[in-house]
Amino acid sequence: MLKIGVLVSGRGSNLQALIEGIEQGKLQAKIEKVISDNPYAYALERCKKHGIPYAVVKRKDFKKKEDFEKELIDILGKVELVVLAGFMRILSPFFLSHFPQRVINIHPSLIPAFQGLEAQGRAVEFGVKFSGCTVHLVNEDVDAGPVIVQAVVPLFPSDNSNTLAERILKYEHRILPQSVQWFAEGRVKIKDRHVLIEGAKYGTLPVNPELEKF
Ligand code: GRF
Repeated sequence: MLKIGVLVSGRGSNLQALIEGIEQGKLQAKIEKVISDNPYAYALERCKKHGIPYAVVKRKDFKKKEDFEKELIDILGKVELVVLAGFMRILSPFFLSHFPQRVINIHPSLIPAFQGLEAQGRAVEFGVKFSGCTVHLVNEDVDAGPVIVQAVVPLFPSDNSNTLAERILKYEHRILPQSVQWFAEGRVKIKDRHVLIEGAKYGTLPVNPELEKF
């Protein structure tokens, strides 16, 4: 069982996908702790419903970012993987050095396109014909770490940011638990910017590498 910690700030639908993966026996992981920086996050309701331990740590309760992050590190304890699932804060090298190559994030675009906020709206505005989502390792740059897996989603002329976000989200809920499962299976090999999932099938559409369980 891979021990994971999940950081959230809002709705928590990606957290829900992890919970369901675990409850359905497809994801060999245990959520040791969920931490929200937002006391009103709906993600916390999901924790209550599923009996998952959670904590609220507000940035404004700490003068220095490092002290805020120290608190996160203390609460996370000995987790083997930290999953950012809609966590709206940028983590510093101080935090990241505590979990080397063990922090992952889900982002609703094909990075490096549309990094940062409002990725889906900016994709619609720009007029791209495909967008999608990415699970990547977190480094000190925003939405820019080594890519683990990406899913491609088409845009239609009638799309707005909400319809595109909804289409992308369906894949987020698959590639995130699948990525955690690859870590649980010990198949994630990292060399500089390149992440290889051992034994995975590459060269597939719409998700590369191919999903196995999700
Ligand atoms: C998702 O679109 C995720 O890609 C982005 O923030 C959103 C979080 O949604 N990083 P949820 O809280 O998991 O529902």
